[in-house]
Amino acid sequence: MTMTAIILAGGQGTRMKSPLPKVLHPVAGKPMIIRTLEGCQQAGVQNLRLVVGHGQNLVKSVLDPIQEMLQVKIYVQDQQLGTADAVKAADLGSLQGDVLIMNGDHPLIKTADIKNFFASFQKLNLDLAVFTVEVSEKNDFGRIVRANGKLQSIVEVKEASAEVLKIKEINTGIYVVKAEVLQKLIPQVKNENAKKEFYLTDIITLARDKALKVDAILSENGDIAHGVNSQMELAAATAKVYASNCEKLLNNGVIILDPKTTYIEDTVIVGAGAVLYPGVFLRGKTAIGAFSVVEPNCFISDSVINDGVQIKAGSYIEKTIIHSQASVGPYARLRPDTTIGQGAHVGNFVEMKKVNFGAKSKAGHLTYLGDADIGEDVNIGCGTITCNYAADKKKYKTIIKDRVFVGSDTQLVAPVTVESDSIIASGTTVTKDVPAGALALSRTAQVNKEGYAKKFKKPEDGNK
Ligand code: UD1
Ligand code: CA
Repeated sequence: MTMTAIILAGGQGTRMKSPLPKVLHPVAGKPMIIRTLEGCQQAGVQNLRLVVGHGQNLVKSVLDPIQEMLQVKIYVQDQQLGTADAVKAADLGSLQGDVLIMNGDHPLIKTADIKNFFASFQKLNLDLAVFTVEVSEKNDFGRIVRANGKLQSIVEVKEASAEVLKIKEINTGIYVVKAEVLQKLIPQVKNENAKKEFYLTDIITLARDKALKVDAILSENGDIAHGVNSQMELAAATAKVYASNCEKLLNNGVIILDPKTTYIEDTVIVGAGAVLYPGVFLRGKTAIGAFSVVEPNCFISDSVINDGVQIKAGSYIEKTIIHSQASVGPYARLRPDTTIGQGAHVGNFVEMKKVNFGAKSKAGHLTYLGDADIGEDVNIGCGTITCNYAADKKKYKTIIKDRVFVGSDTQLVAPVTVESDSIIASGTTVTKDVPAGALALSRTAQVNKEGYAKKFKKPEDGNK
């Protein structure tokens, strides 16, 4: 049996009060529409159809790079005339098999939930099923009206009487329906209601009138109701995903001091015995090795941190590889395409970009290294700067080979190569290549003028 899913994402999402189309709002780093689509794909849905409308160009551009991978077909609903009209836009005529319909704002939906929807629909041998949950708080969901336990209709809040509003069972907006039933009923939906919209919910009464097998299936899992409609609900969904990611890692032996303030995206891997302090943010394709320690308020994205690495407080690390036993920070900034060698040390207020920093090398303080290859066992003194960006607006490379000692306050004007075992005296501006084993020195000779300070300073002034 073909499983199709139609995901409705054409609406404006007015309650989000945001210029971003609702379904593009991220939940723990991933737009909610992608979470919804992935949930369907992993459940084995072969035919995935997404209806877009409001903000369609932005939605398309976000999905474009992954559209093939997700195998999703995009349909445009020109005018947002209601949920039944949106379903019609998804090339209704070509549908086959069982069709799941759901909103694009269900970031917490799980693959298992989607499998369950199809399975219970098939088990009960229905023509149309709507999935419901019970909600006690005040809400805007459509109410499920039953008579003698049997589903009668779904009534939208705007059309509901005081009596109907008291009903706790609500429409999650998730349905499974046979393709031929949908093809027959959708054209019959009218827009004679408070919002002058074509309500998908009207197919319930239409199906009942035709003596089709219709039922409302009540689920215990309250999460499936919670589409995201406001920033509050988005924040709540985001918190749930972060909490569940921490929980998985805690269960695998990662030490997280305060899960409430530790933010880890789904794609991150952390080895057992690693320690994560409060305020740590791990994003994208990041992996943290066993027994590594990440101190408070570090931000790490798309980086590989090997075993036994220490990342000290306040460091910001992107697209960087750090080999084992290295230590970084506090307050280090490692920018894309940087590799830190085994046992190397990168200290406070050090910035690197596109650097290969060799094993056991050290850059302890206040340094900028960019577009540089730095060998093993190199010492980079405090205040060293690679001047990689030239007046011709091009970037040039600095090469420093093994065991070089770079004194403090050195500038290396690229392109320049410093051969192994050489020394650069502090305060030097290196503009020429330095041969192996040499001392490079470029300072103006110091002059001391005896007693000269008196001219400017009277002894009674002290240091004023
Ligand atoms: C809908 C249901 C309601 C249910 C609720 C669950 C209807 C009439 N009501 O209400 O019973 O409790 O979902 O969340 O269906 N959309 C389009 N094109 C449109 C209109 C909407 O693509 O022309 C999309 C929206 O982007 C959204 C979804 O359909 O993803 C639901 O639309 P919305 O107008 O938000 O319906 P609700 O008022 O939430
Ligand atoms: Ca100088």
